[in-house]
Amino acid sequence: MSGFSHLFTPFSIGNVTVKNRIVFLPHFNALSSEDGMPTERDALYFAERAKGGAGLIIMYGIACTLSGKMSQKFIHGWDPQIVPGLSQYAELVHQHGSKIFGQINHGGHTTLQNPPQLLFAPTQMPEPSSPFNTKEMEIEDIQEVIEGFAKTALHFKMAGFDGVEIKVAHDGLLRSFVSEFFNRRTDQYGGSFENRLRFPLEVIQAIRDAVGDDYPLGIRLCLDEYTSWGYGLDFGLKLAKAFEETGQVTYINTDAGTFSSFYMEIPPAAVPKGFAVHMSASLKDTIKLPVIAFGRINDPVQAEKILADGQADLIGMARPLIADPELPNKAMRGDADDVRACIHCNDGCIFQVMQEKAIRCIHNPAAGREKTLGIGTLMPAAVKKRVVVIGGGVAGLKVSEIAALRGHQVTLIEKSGQLGGQVLLASKLPYRDQLLEVPSHLIKRVNRLGVEVLYNTEATEANVRSLQPDAVVIATGSYSGKLNIPGIDQDNVYNVYDVLQGKAAIGDRVLLIDRGGHYKGAGMAELLASQGKHVHIVTPLLFVGENLEPSNRALLYQRISKLDIEMTPHVEAVSIHGRDAVIQHVYSGKEQRLSGYDTFIYVTYNHSNEALYHALKGKCKEVYRVGDSAAPRMIEQAVWDGEEIGRKL
Ligand SMILES: Cc1cc2nc3c(=O)[nH]c(=O)nc-3n(C[C@H](O)[C@H](O)[C@H](O)COP(=O)(O)O)c2cc1C
Ligand code: SF4
Repeated sequence: MSGFSHLFTPFSIGNVTVKNRIVFLPHFNALSSEDGMPTERDALYFAERAKGGAGLIIMYGIACTLSGKMSQKFIHGWDPQIVPGLSQYAELVHQHGSKIFGQINHGGHTTLQNPPQLLFAPTQMPEPSSPFNTKEMEIEDIQEVIEGFAKTALHFKMAGFDGVEIKVAHDGLLRSFVSEFFNRRTDQYGGSFENRLRFPLEVIQAIRDAVGDDYPLGIRLCLDEYTSWGYGLDFGLKLAKAFEETGQVTYINTDAGTFSSFYMEIPPAAVPKGFAVHMSASLKDTIKLPVIAFGRINDPVQAEKILADGQADLIGMARPLIADPELPNKAMRGDADDVRACIHCNDGCIFQVMQEKAIRCIHNPAAGREKTLGIGTLMPAAVKKRVVVIGGGVAGLKVSEIAALRGHQVTLIEKSGQLGGQVLLASKLPYRDQLLEVPSHLIKRVNRLGVEVLYNTEATEANVRSLQPDAVVIATGSYSGKLNIPGIDQDNVYNVYDVLQGKAAIGDRVLLIDRGGHYKGAGMAELLASQGKHVHIVTPLLFVGENLEPSNRALLYQRISKLDIEMTPHVEAVSIHGRDAVIQHVYSGKEQRLSGYDTFIYVTYNHSNEALYHALKGKCKEVYRVGDSAAPRMIEQAVWDGEEIGRKL
């Protein structure tokens, strides 16, 4: 059991016993069909996490009524036609000895659709962070939703699911009913605490009537809304107690945040690891029902400690098992060091899903593509080759890993004394150190797989050919382009890489020209301003950080709004003159002179390092290029290219 005796002790949730304490938390993955039906691809997604060893899988919230569909892809819980499709999910998960519960939801006043469907709410008002207003529910609407919850629960049971949970959490209609802020009704469903609780309690009763007393029925419960207008932990605990007192609820799955504080629902790396453990611990002190902990618990050691300290009965993990479905099995066999830890970037998973696009993971190319890339799909190469990979950044490391796993003999040539490539620089920006996990994991893997690494070696056409490779993979990365404007060669002008490499002398007043809209610009502004500099950031984009994933951007804005940072969007820098710059408005064309800067820093697009590729192309048997050396892109594409070419070799 390798030091994880709590994590791998079975546990009973009502009459269902799970083989270990690891719960794959519910999360919409947009793998269902456009018309709200289950799909094989979706079933395989959950089966993969069961194969990887999770004791309990909780499927994402499916819609209880048409009005509850937050996305076109939300499965139609009320429709009996879903039962055969859902049965496949249950069968596949059960084959691996895991249990599966289904989540039932009504999106209420929140939606991913734009423009939205008709949104239901206790009182007509929008979610504060949304421009879309709602319909105040009539009694008939409430009745329809209650029936929808009951039907959906029954359909899960008919499909062989082992239990269900309802959502009184982030985007849920039921949470808005219990909330004093959202619920201003004066009928039997509003006003007092008891009245506000009436709707969820009627839902629970209706589900019990449909599925019986023994079927596990949990609540995904928001314990703290993390908004200035919403409720906090004390109220969350009061809710939990009230649900327990019904005698009809089997467990509580903790949760936090709302659509207006979504960065606490699905917290990015800037939120501390295990930030919500105090909530499950308080819940354990308040109720006797089993409690699932959640939120940035991404390593088995941390998980074991939470259980050992009595802060929860079960450990919920969503993104950690998206990034590495085999985390449970690896921990169980004493190989926790091999876990591909989620870096909480939110780029591949929630960012895609919020746009109703199929889930991805920057670290795990198989996420959402389990059939073709999942566990057991990597086949040994028919012909074992001598493979030379040039460049030890993420793309080069990934291709080395996959090629070595397939039995090829791999030599990795790195011109510096360190593997990791550009990520080593990017991780120097504030709250970006988690990025290092990607190369760190891959470095462990290539070492383990016996890849030969030649450090401090400049690859040339001659020395690569002298290795007599069967295949060469160029992963030489990219270099920063130069802004083509007058004044760019002045001594006080640097590109962002110069600054990250410590090659720049930065004065007190900085003009930062950001053509990227990502971390290089916004993160550099934060870094310099936190060192006491005045930073003025100009960008042609709609706003600073336009291309960032929204939860990361929200937290970034919370931080940078407290610093000495000036932001001017919609402008291009057109020239630099000593300590001045001229900017031009993108839409009006009007020019303006900005004066008195000590230093200018620019962020622009990169160019591929492709000379070696062209030198070797046609001279070696097989030549490929991956990552930025093909086209400068993000870390996810570097990982993806490495996986793809590694499988092709
Ligand atoms: C892509 C995505 C979709 C999510 N959808 C749901 C959902 O349908 N229901 C739910 O209760 N939580 C949902 N969540 C929240 C997760 O269950 C979980 O609470 C959150 O990701 C924090 O846990 P983690 O740090 O282990 O990822 C979603 C999370 C992600 C990443
Ligand atoms: S995309 Fe990022 S946050 Fe999402 S699971 Fe993968 S590593 Fe974690």
